[in-house]
Amino acid sequence: MLEYLEKIKDVSLLTAYNANIDAIKYVNEEFISSLISLYPPEKIREKIEEYPRAINEPLDFIARLILSIKLGKPAEVPLKNEELNDWFNSFKYDEEKIGGQAGIVSNLMAVLGLKRVIFYTPLISERLSRMFIDSNNLVYPIGNDELKLIKVKEVKKDKLTKINRIFEFKEGLTFKLGEEKIKAKASTRFIVASRPEALRMCFDNSVRKFLKELAKMIDCSFLSGFQGIKEEYSDGTTYIDYFERDREDIKTLKKEGVLTHLEFASIPNLKIREAVINYILREVDSVGMDETELANVLHSIGYEKLSDIILKESKIEDVIEGCKIILDEFKNLEVVQVHTLYYILMLTKEEVSLEELKNCLDFSTILAATKAKLGDIKKKEDLKVGLNVPYNEYKELFLKAYEEDNLKIVSVPSRYVKNPKSTVGLGDTVSSGAFVYYTSIKKRKSL
Ligand code: GLC
Repeated sequence: MLEYLEKIKDVSLLTAYNANIDAIKYVNEEFISSLISLYPPEKIREKIEEYPRAINEPLDFIARLILSIKLGKPAEVPLKNEELNDWFNSFKYDEEKIGGQAGIVSNLMAVLGLKRVIFYTPLISERLSRMFIDSNNLVYPIGNDELKLIKVKEVKKDKLTKINRIFEFKEGLTFKLGEEKIKAKASTRFIVASRPEALRMCFDNSVRKFLKELAKMIDCSFLSGFQGIKEEYSDGTTYIDYFERDREDIKTLKKEGVLTHLEFASIPNLKIREAVINYILREVDSVGMDETELANVLHSIGYEKLSDIILKESKIEDVIEGCKIILDEFKNLEVVQVHTLYYILMLTKEEVSLEELKNCLDFSTILAATKAKLGDIKKKEDLKVGLNVPYNEYKELFLKAYEEDNLKIVSVPSRYVKNPKSTVGLGDTVSSGAFVYYTSIKKRKSL
């Protein structure tokens, strides 16, 4: 483990664009039953069939939450009707944590001792900045006449704090919807995401004018939050304006030799999902996804059959097939990485050793197991916990390393924690660990 940490310590990383507070509620039978009692069971069932992609009324929320529990699949759905905020606030939340890919990853990487982590989100209040660890290697860019990097912990820029509500549930949670008995297939979470009008997922002009300078300070960037872009804003701008701008900025980063990664995320809005695919996925060097996200991308680019098979059967062979298609379709990509509950898989066109790639994925499974067990990784020593979690029982099936058609294909089984303390942010932890380690392999190669 120390060797792994030694390898990443020279890496400098930029994380953008999303960070928020996650208000977490651990769902038990009593809570879910009280929600169900608000509507006749048939109405809830009809709504589940309808599959709402935004939350306009409590029924939309209840339907999507139940579906997520029933399938054991994580999901994130935006809250459209702001008037429901009071209703959501009436629940008692158990915990508040840093949320959003950029927020989660920057704290984690700063703890792991990266040389420098530059974190950026356009909206940052004192309440949010307090959620970051106090560390000299974790900084925020402020641009006026010149570019300054200040500790994230010390930033007090805006008033508004974005808060998402996270509903976590454990495998085996059982309740009744009318006569139907429902049992959670896996431990995971359902997210009600807020979409503040004032939050625009891009670099603010004051920082953007220094982007080239910023790019020279980093080796790689972990980008996410595009799922938070709205179709339209009250000032007349639309999602296209932000996607075009973000694509330009990724080009700037790449020109300076920065390795760029997109963490795909759950994107229920189909227009926004298409835009993430066409503007961002077509530009970056690397992408991280879970199985459902991979299936969604495949569906969008015309592989409906394979997409359905992956969703229904979850076979690693199909997932590998899907990744090959993505690498072929998006020539800009050099890495595709998929994480599931049971394994992490990476395909790359680069000339890197299979052994190194295996280490890379093993490192990320240790991070994930540690986070699952402890809820948070607060210091390097915490990683001993993850290291002591054995590979899952399907180890033989998921340990692979081979070369085929000039592609390196490697997968490592997860270190499966049956009763995780919390699951939100696990995917981001695995993905960023693998991406940063991969960057370090490339960095060492080019020295
Ligand atoms: C998304 C959610 C955020 C959560 C994160 C975890 O960014 O919006 O609330 O913390 O996913 O993966």
